[in-house]
Amino acid sequence: MANNLLKGKRGIIFGALDENSIAWKTALKVKEEGGSFTLTNAPIAMRMGKINELAKACNAEVIPADATSEQDLTNLFTKSTEVLGGKLDFVLHSIGMSPNVRKDRTYGDLNYEWFLKTLDISGISFHKVLQTAEKTDAMNEWGSILALTYIAAQRTFPDYSDMAQAKAVLESIARSYGYRFAKLKKVRVNTISQSPTKTTAGAGISGFDVFFDYAQMMSPLGNASGEDCANYITMMFSDFTRMVTMQNLMHDGGFSSTGITQDLIDRLSK
Ligand code: NAI
Repeated sequence: MANNLLKGKRGIIFGALDENSIAWKTALKVKEEGGSFTLTNAPIAMRMGKINELAKACNAEVIPADATSEQDLTNLFTKSTEVLGGKLDFVLHSIGMSPNVRKDRTYGDLNYEWFLKTLDISGISFHKVLQTAEKTDAMNEWGSILALTYIAAQRTFPDYSDMAQAKAVLESIARSYGYRFAKLKKVRVNTISQSPTKTTAGAGISGFDVFFDYAQMMSPLGNASGEDCANYITMMFSDFTRMVTMQNLMHDGGFSSTGITQDLIDRLSK
C-alpha cells in the first residue's frame, strides 16, 4: 500500500543489476511512494544486466557511471539534477565487488592490486559519491544518503575475505562524511547492515547458502529479505527519519544481538 512517503523527492539509485538486486527492489518501492530518480550502474554491468527494463517500469533515465571514476560521478550528479528538474533528496549506494572473492583467492593469498580495487569499488567509492554530491552542490537540505553494508565489517566471516575491510571503510566514511554533510547542509548519511540476501553479489561469496541458513536460524525474526530492505531504505529517505545520521543501522531480524537461538540448540543437540 503506497503512502506517498517520497512525494516530490528526487534522487539517484546505484547498483540495480537484475530483479534480485536490493537496488532494483528499492527503485520499485521508491517509485510506488512517489519519488523520482535516475538509475545508474557501471557501463559493463549495463551490458550484462537488465537495467533498461527497470528504467521503463519506473519512468527513469539511465546514466552510466563507474562509481570509482570522479569524472563519471560528476557527470551523473550534474545530469541527474538537470533531468529531474532540481536538487536531490536521496542517494542509494548499493555497490559491492571484490576481484579476490570473485577469483577465489584465499585470505592468505590475496592479490594486492585486486585488494585495492575491492577497497576502491566497495568502500572509497562511497566517499567519491559524497564528495561529488558536495562539489556539484546537488543535495537539498535534509537529504538522505545511504550505503549498504554487512556485519562482516565487525565480526569475522572467513569467506567474506577483503570485502570485510571494504565494508569497515564504508561504515567509517558514513560517520566522517555524515558529520561534514550535517554541518554543511543538514544532509544525513547512514549505512544499513543487511541480512544475507540472495542476489548476484551475495551468491558470489563461497559458502553463501550455509551462512544464509545459519543467519536465518540465528535471527529471531529470520533474515530480512531484499523487499524488507527496500522498505527500510524508503523509510530512511522519508522525512520521518530526519534526525538519524552517522549510524550503522542493523537490518537483520535481530541477528546482531543474538548469542544463540533455540533453533540452533535443537539442531546441534540432534
Ligand atoms: P547486486 O550484485 O545485485 O548489486 C551489486 C551492484 O554493484 C551491481 O549492480 C554491480 O553492477 C555494482 N557495481 C560493481 N562495481 C561497480 C562499479 N565500479 N561502479 C558502479 N557499480 C558497480 O547485489 P546486492 O546484494 O543487491 O548488493 C547491493 C549492496 O548490498 C552491496 O553493497 C552489497 O555488498 C550489500 N549487501 C548485500 C548482502 C547480500 O547478502 N546480498 C548483504 C549485506 C549487504
